[in-house]
Amino acid sequence: MIQEEKIKQCLRELVDTDSDIYNYATPKGLKELRVNIAKYLDKKLNSKVNENNILITSGSQQSIYLLSRVLSNQGDTIASEEPTFFGAIAVFKEIGVEVLTVEINDDGINLNELREKISSSHPKFIYVVPTFHNPTGISWDNTQRKDFLKIINEYGVTVIEDDPCSELNYTDDDFKTLYELNEGKNIIYLGTFSKLICPSLSVGYILADNAIIERLYEYKLLNDMNTSLFIQKFVNLYLEKYNIVEDIAMKKAQYQKNARLIKEKLSNEFDNISFSNMRGGLFMTVNIPKSVQPTSPYDTNHYDARMQDFIRADVSKANIDELVDTINIKYKLKKRSTS
Ligand SMILES: Cc1ncc(COP(=O)(O)O)c(C=O)c1O
Repeated sequence: MIQEEKIKQCLRELVDTDSDIYNYATPKGLKELRVNIAKYLDKKLNSKVNENNILITSGSQQSIYLLSRVLSNQGDTIASEEPTFFGAIAVFKEIGVEVLTVEINDDGINLNELREKISSSHPKFIYVVPTFHNPTGISWDNTQRKDFLKIINEYGVTVIEDDPCSELNYTDDDFKTLYELNEGKNIIYLGTFSKLICPSLSVGYILADNAIIERLYEYKLLNDMNTSLFIQKFVNLYLEKYNIVEDIAMKKAQYQKNARLIKEKLSNEFDNISFSNMRGGLFMTVNIPKSVQPTSPYDTNHYDARMQDFIRADVSKANIDELVDTINIKYKLKKRSTS
């Protein structure tokens, strides 16, 4: 059954059978959902996960916000990859922290730069997306992850591991989470149902130590009191009724097809562009020749300077016309002659 049909069935069943959906939820989140997430994470992270270490959030964007509030104050230093997820950049700006940026390349984070920066500035935490990164699609190899953790453990830095879509793996590579590799030590793990079911749900979760969960809980109360009980119950019923692994398989097939289409159509339209080797997730980069300068200024609120050299294609959408327009408007790239 396609996912849309499952969602409809699940919604019907929920409104027909559960009169509790009209109430508020508790700030920590629906117990049954936390238990089901803990079961899911037991397998995924190969670790014993307790539901009391899970806080339900209104999506990973809120998770990043709550954690940044709990772990840092205005004027503190934190660290992140460069480039990084624009939603996280917006949070760091809002809180007023100073961000140490550490470059990533095709192999992952630059470890020399990381050591140099954290040894001199001792950030309150580092925010990373090691698997199918947003916006580059890059994934760190397991050796890179282990070397990263050696440095992190040496300096005792807290890591926020944002993992919205490592399930969408198009290879046989087994990307281990930092959480698993470090047996949870120093790692706060973020997950979301936005990419596995659909983004309109806005339900995510944070896996962290009790002491952090207790503090997050206070900020959750201040921020939005609770995540919609209706939606939490929907997600819980969905997880109990259906095998999410089947949905993931369908999404992977569709996204790989979209990626092929995007590559084919854009290569026919433009000279000198190339594509990243997408190993999973939602994002493939369309690399623009360095000689071509953008024709419009960057929105520095969202993207750093490296975003000049590429365009992020979201393979969950086959929005080829939009991509062609972006390349035309931003770079005035030469079109291939059609003769
Ligand atoms: C790396 C990353 N973190 C967080 C989010 C936001 O997730 P949510 O929809 O759960 O708020 C996204 C969404 O694209 C993302 O790519």
